Order: sequence, then structure tokens, then C-alpha cells
Amino acid sequence: MKSVSLFISMVVFISIGATSLTADIASGQKWYTKGCKSCHGNGSKGAAMHTQEEWDELFKNGGAVIIKKHAKTPAEVYFNGENFQSKSKDLRDFLFEYGSDSGNVPAC
Ligand code: HEC
Repeated sequence: MKSVSLFISMVVFISIGATSLTADIASGQKWYTKGCKSCHGNGSKGAAMHTQEEWDELFKNGGAVIIKKHAKTPAEVYFNGENFQSKSKDLRDFLFEYGSDSGNVPAC
């Protein structure tokens, strides 16, 4: 009996985890379309700019590396703004999910 309820709580836990993961990726895709597409093309092209490991590197420390890459570009203001800061985790999740070595291709 105990193992059954443990099993059920594990299933519930895993499905909650899966739902929030997809939500982050979907949200990241939305913000990619709003904030990056105009310069870097659609999501599949943008995410394929880098491998998953490289996306991790670009987005660590709140996106320090990717912010630097945009210094002195027209996107500088956006990257230093609050909007990027608050969405950077979702953006990273989206770009990581579809990184060039991920084997996944987004629908946009
Ligand atoms: C106003 C145009 C513009 C916007 C908006 C923009 N970028 Fe960029 N991005 C550039 C330019 C210009 C560079 C530097 C030149 C280059 O490497 O293409 C660059 C560089 C990059 C690089 C580094 C490329 C490399 O060679 O390592 C990445 C990654 C990147 N952008 C991702 C993004 C993401 C993700 C977003 C949205 C959050 C975004 N960019 C929004 C113009 C833009």
C-alpha cells in the first residue's frame, strides 16, 4: 500500500515537472519571437545558432555573455533592460531545448 502511494506521488511530481518545463519553453519561444526574431530570424534558425553547451555558457550569470555580445548593437538597450532579465531563464530554456545539437526543431 505504501509503495502504491509513493508511486502515485512520483507520477504526480513528474507530470508537474514536465508541465512547468513546457511552459517555460513556450514562454521562451514567445519572448524569442518578440525580442530576437527581428534580427536573428525565426526560432528554429535562432536556436540553431549554438549548441546546448554554448547556450548554457551564453546565459550563465544572468546572461552576462549574451549581453556582452550585444554591446554596441541596436539590441543593447533591450539586453540591459528589465524585460530581458525577467525572461532570460525562459529564453535560455527555449534556446537550449532547440540548440543545434539537440535534435529538436521548434514549430516556429
Ligand atoms: C537589434 C538586433 C538584435 C536583436 C533584437 C537581438 N540581437 Fe543577437 N545579435 C545582434 C548583433 C548585431 C550581434 C553581433 C553580430 C553577430 O554575431 O551576428 C548579435 C549576436 C548574437 C549572438 C552571438 C552570436 C555569436 O556569434 O556568438 C547571439 C547568441 C544572439 N545574438 C542571440 C540573440 C537573442 C537570443 C536575442 C533575443 C533575446 C537577440 N540576439 C536579439 C543583433 C540583435
